[in-house]
Amino acid sequence: MYKKIINLVVLVILITSFLLMTYYGVNTFHVKSNPIEPQDFQYHFVLISEETNNDYWRLIESGAIDAAKKHNVYLEYLGPSHANMSEHVRIFDKAIAGKVDGIMIQGISDKEFTPLINKAREKGISIVTIDTDAPNSRREVYVGTDNYQSGYMAGQALIEDTVGEQKVGVVIGRSAASNQDLRLQGFMDAIKSESRIQIVGVKESNITKTGAVQATYDLLKEHPDITAFYGTSALDGIGITQVIRTIRPNLNPYIITFDTLPETVELLSKGEIDAIVVQYPYEMGFRAVEMLIELKDGRHPEPLQYTKTEILHQKDLSSLQNDQKGDMAR
Ligand code: BGC
Repeated sequence: MYKKIINLVVLVILITSFLLMTYYGVNTFHVKSNPIEPQDFQYHFVLISEETNNDYWRLIESGAIDAAKKHNVYLEYLGPSHANMSEHVRIFDKAIAGKVDGIMIQGISDKEFTPLINKAREKGISIVTIDTDAPNSRREVYVGTDNYQSGYMAGQALIEDTVGEQKVGVVIGRSAASNQDLRLQGFMDAIKSESRIQIVGVKESNITKTGAVQATYDLLKEHPDITAFYGTSALDGIGITQVIRTIRPNLNPYIITFDTLPETVELLSKGEIDAIVVQYPYEMGFRAVEMLIELKDGRHPEPLQYTKTEILHQKDLSSLQNDQKGDMAR
């Protein structure tokens, strides 16, 4: 009798587990028989980033998603998981082979990207360059920062914000990327008439935080008398401050860097960073999708569409936060 009760209890447990497993399994793994397909939409566009999980690119992506939703566009977001030129080129070439309606991509290097942009155009794919232009290619529109001008503004800010001799260490994202190069050129042109300011070294971060840490460390090792840092890509300022805080807490260099990612804004508010060159990535993504739609609809949008650039200091923080809702707070 006792054995029978035990068997019954075990059986009830088994049946209940089976039912629960079936119920939750169906809800977890159920694949809709009617998935969303690109052909359900008016257009199929692809946004190719320099690095998919980079916070700056996520902002561009969110702008593009919002515009895609608004205009019934099927949007794909692709790119290398870590910045890598050959992978970037391979993904671009694959998207072209996929015969999509339009592609948004940086014109990172003339040599690698211009031929592919032209190839896409020959296949009837519209191309909008985003964040970094490829002016020698057949791209139809560029949406993004005027990168030379943004570097020039960074140089002017350094001149205005400092006094006396300055030895500047530059942490550049990738010297092979034309936007980074333009940001350095603009900066150099701005400071060239100021004999008190001189660049003592330039090192690459490969657009990662750990790369920026290494670059800063190497710069300080080679030039212990550095008094200022200029970071030209979105995670550079975070890496620079991390090194200063850890190994040279009494140095207090002047630091100017790019992009209002939350961590960088936090460092500005704490006084660890002195100024930020503000870009508008959300707007870039949103506007680039709208430009592709205009092109597909046979209109002729203005080819050079610079988004705003400005310099942000600690004292401007409150006003800018209200003003830049779409971009900064995300
Ligand atoms: C640049 C992008 C780059 C990103 C990397 C931004 O400042 O505009 O080109 O991919 O930094 O974090």
